[in-house]
Amino acid sequence: MSRRMFLTCLIVVQAAISLRMCNAEETTSDSLPTLAPPICLGGPLTQCKWLDEPSGITICSEGSWPADPAFDVPPTTQHLILYNIKFPNRENSFRFSHLINLTVLQIEYSESCDLTTGATVPFLFQNLVASLDRSTMRTLFFTHIHFETIDDDFFAGFSGLESVEFDNCRIKEFTRRSFSPLAMGAPVSSLPGARNTSSFKQLRVVHAAELTEFAWEVLYPVAESLEGSPS
Ligand SMILES: *[C@@H]1O[C@H](CO)[C@@H](O)[C@H](O)[C@H]1NC(C)=O
Ligand SMILES: *[C@@H]1O[C@H](CO)[C@@H](O)[C@H](O)[C@H]1NC(C)=O
Repeated sequence: MSRRMFLTCLIVVQAAISLRMCNAEETTSDSLPTLAPPICLGGPLTQCKWLDEPSGITICSEGSWPADPAFDVPPTTQHLILYNIKFPNRENSFRFSHLINLTVLQIEYSESCDLTTGATVPFLFQNLVASLDRSTMRTLFFTHIHFETIDDDFFAGFSGLESVEFDNCRIKEFTRRSFSPLAMGAPVSSLPGARNTSSFKQLRVVHAAELTEFAWEVLYPVAESLEGSPS
């Protein structure tokens, strides 16, 4: 089977899994009483698999992120997909500093778990990427991740980011300086207080019913580089 076919199959399989998950949620949400806090950590990670070159894609899916500090994502990874994973809220649990060629990070249907209460908490993205060289990252995709607030530190270190997509991420707010870390290039002029240049081109926020207000001013730091939407 060709690489392209394999990837297509994979996407179809993922779509089927998503559909099943949505259906399960719908049927159980109002029939179950809430008793003890949910235990959010699951079983061991099912797989972390590097697809062959030239795609450079690694897919890690289903289960809890391993506590074993020796656990590594393949260093050749250029595009990392984290699918349906429970991440502990412990700091320094993730070793990504060896992913020197990573440019695309895609996180889907994943959760952060508070290890003391066993409850799911809004996703701790900065905690997850703390060890990563974020300055070489170009693209972020988030699907079905619970964020609530995209705060001033969310994009910290992502100075070369070109695009981000939030799909079904329950975002309520982007804070005032949330896009500032994306504008760390040389100043546009030598005048004091001149804004920095940025590489950021594309922001997509879809299925965001909870985002009732969006202050366009938050995009001021990236206003020059941002490209208009084709649709
Ligand atoms: C990173 O990319 C460079 C250039 O394509 C390549 O020579 C190098 O082997 C890659 N390193 C890893 C760890 O994949
Ligand atoms: C411009 O970028 C530098 C780092 O390159 C940063 O220290 C500074 O705060 C930025 N200025 C603005 C206005 O964002």
